[in-house]
Amino acid sequence: MGMNLFKTTAAIAGLALMGTGMATAGEESALTINGDLTIPTSASAPAHLENIDMVTSGWIYRTKETQALQMDDFDNPSFVFVDVALDLWDKVDGSEGKACSSCHENGPEEFAGLTASMPRINAEGQLETTTELVNECRTERMGAEPWKYSKGKMAAMTSLIGLQSRGSVVNVAIDGAAAPYWEKGKELYYTRVGQLDMSCSNCHEDNYDVMIRADHLSQGQINGFPTYRLKNAKMNTTHARFKGCMKNIRAKPFGQGSDEFKALELYVASRGNGLTVETPSVRN
Ligand code: HEC
Ligand code: HEC
Repeated sequence: MGMNLFKTTAAIAGLALMGTGMATAGEESALTINGDLTIPTSASAPAHLENIDMVTSGWIYRTKETQALQMDDFDNPSFVFVDVALDLWDKVDGSEGKACSSCHENGPEEFAGLTASMPRINAEGQLETTTELVNECRTERMGAEPWKYSKGKMAAMTSLIGLQSRGSVVNVAIDGAAAPYWEKGKELYYTRVGQLDMSCSNCHEDNYDVMIRADHLSQGQINGFPTYRLKNAKMNTTHARFKGCMKNIRAKPFGQGSDEFKALELYVASRGNGLTVETPSVRN
């Protein structure tokens, strides 16, 4: 315990984390999109969270300028990628000569609410992500190649699908057949890894709302994913973000689409149960 505390303090000092409570949340505290959709950016923590009373959206920790980009769909660069996905939606691909629209005749609107409950357990009792649902249609129903897990086309399509849940309350199931996956994800979240010997919780639970280098630490919630990042000017998936955070602590990241990252996604999503889906969000 004492050793762990020492190590964390040392690692955090190495990362130039500044004193707790020094930072203030971004200047805007209410997220209203297009002047009419108001999204609550905090909620009472779900019962399973032992160390946090309120869960908060990553949006509140961003600068006023970055926040503003998410407040108007014309300013939000994510919509360039949503448009890419709308083109893909109607594009025939694969041996069956079908497009998404051939079968999902009511349009992507058919997926309203889906992202708020993902990932989830499928009929075979296995954990399944939105990305896998899309690729299942591509490989099994269209006779097409799967899209790469976090690459452009998939990130665009899952952004379009996520948008249909914008304003829905996150509510992923963690009981029943989901429980073992959730437990595995929780264990990963609290396990120290990498040269810096840190866990997700060391930053996103113990130190959110403080500055780490020039960055304002959030709770690492995923209710806004996929998210457009100014840093790389594209849509970033949850697994890509997990990978980036693991690399930052000099740990070997799990693969995108791996069982580990899927379990972690379920666990992290469940830490946001009660928050509202903001997809597609904007971050630095
Ligand atoms: C040949 C018909 C067909 C095509 C083409 C097709 N799908 Fe599907 N899709 C289905 C069926 C059938 C289901 C399962 C039943 C359902 O939930 O609608 C499904 C389910 C889904 C689901 C899960 C919906 C839910 O609520 O559980 C998503 C997401 C999805 N498809 C996305 C896509 C996308 C994106 C494309 C194009 C890349 C596509 N599908 C192409 C037939 C198709
Ligand atoms: C050394 C501290 C540190 C650790 C450890 C860390 N992260 Fe992060 N993480 C950050 C920083 C800094 C950011 C960018 C600012 C922010 O949104 O918090 C970030 C961002 C995120 C985001 C994006 C949040 C948003 O609103 O867009 C997610 C999700 C995330 N981290 C998940 C994780 C997970 C899962 C782990 C464990 C595998 C982890 N992080 C470990 C520092 C860390």
